[in-house]
Amino acid sequence: MAESVTPFPSKTFGVTIEKLYKSFDGVPVLKDINLEVKPGEIFVIMGPSGSGKSVLLKHVAGLEQPTSGRVLIGSYDVADPGTRQRIHLALVFQAGALFNSMTVYDNLALYPREHRLGTEPHIRDRVMHALQILSLEKAVNQFPAELSGGMKKRVAIARALVTDPQLLLYDEPTSELDPVMSATITEIIAALRDQTAVTTVVVTHDRGIAFAIADRMAFIMDGRIRAIGQVADFKNPADGVIANFLNPVIDLKNPRFKHLEDNHE
Ligand SMILES: Nc1ncnc2c1ncn2[C@@H]1O[C@H](COP(=O)(O)OP(=O)(O)OP(=O)(O)O)[C@@H](O)[C@H]1O
Ligand SMILES: [Mg+2]
Repeated sequence: MAESVTPFPSKTFGVTIEKLYKSFDGVPVLKDINLEVKPGEIFVIMGPSGSGKSVLLKHVAGLEQPTSGRVLIGSYDVADPGTRQRIHLALVFQAGALFNSMTVYDNLALYPREHRLGTEPHIRDRVMHALQILSLEKAVNQFPAELSGGMKKRVAIARALVTDPQLLLYDEPTSELDPVMSATITEIIAALRDQTAVTTVVVTHDRGIAFAIADRMAFIMDGRIRAIGQVADFKNPADGVIANFLNPVIDLKNPRFKHLEDNHE
């Protein structure tokens, strides 16, 4: 391991979401979201497609502004301009959001270069350290189009690590991956938290990842929190809607698609 790599930050922050509402063009997407993520925990948010998970995560990252309510990181309001200077947070986007015209190296070096986080040799150490953690050293000079889906996900995580995050947000980190690569990414998320105590929020459809790594979980549906609790509370949920989401029964004799309209009132 290179010695000049900046040590991971010792201070870690929790997240408090208070009475968060968000509408787009008058259409409500988040409705009265209240939750607390404790410093250093892995908090998993599950819920159906379109329920507002990515929008919620973008509020935590300061990429969307609430219609009302607020999001605090530690005691700092995300909406305050100074907060992003005080706290290193990173969002691993659902689709990776790598720059296709740049090599893996330049994708990772972009943030530290723009924020002048060190000399070029120092930045190189940080980038190579992050690539090493994700077993990506050989991809350093490749372009995103040359990478598999799993490699792109790992590059996106490596790019987040280069910022030495105190808060790490993952949007669907295992979607479109084979089961072994999903397990690998899940192990990486857990290992990073264990090594660095980074507060971690994971949005996922994947109950395997949720049950494996969550300290606590929330289930969001139609823009509202439907349930929040420990993993054990979600393994045999009393709420039939959550139970069906987590353990859907495939019924070929009475297929669901014939009832989609009934369920969408
Ligand atoms: N910038 C935007 N402008 C208008 N509507 C938006 C915007 N971003 C999200 N929405 C809407 O907000 C709702 C929630 O979207 P979101 O992306 O958070 O869903 P999701 O839970 O992440 O779904 P998935 O599991 O498919 O990723 C959707 O109806 C979406 O169309
Ligand atoms: Mg999403």
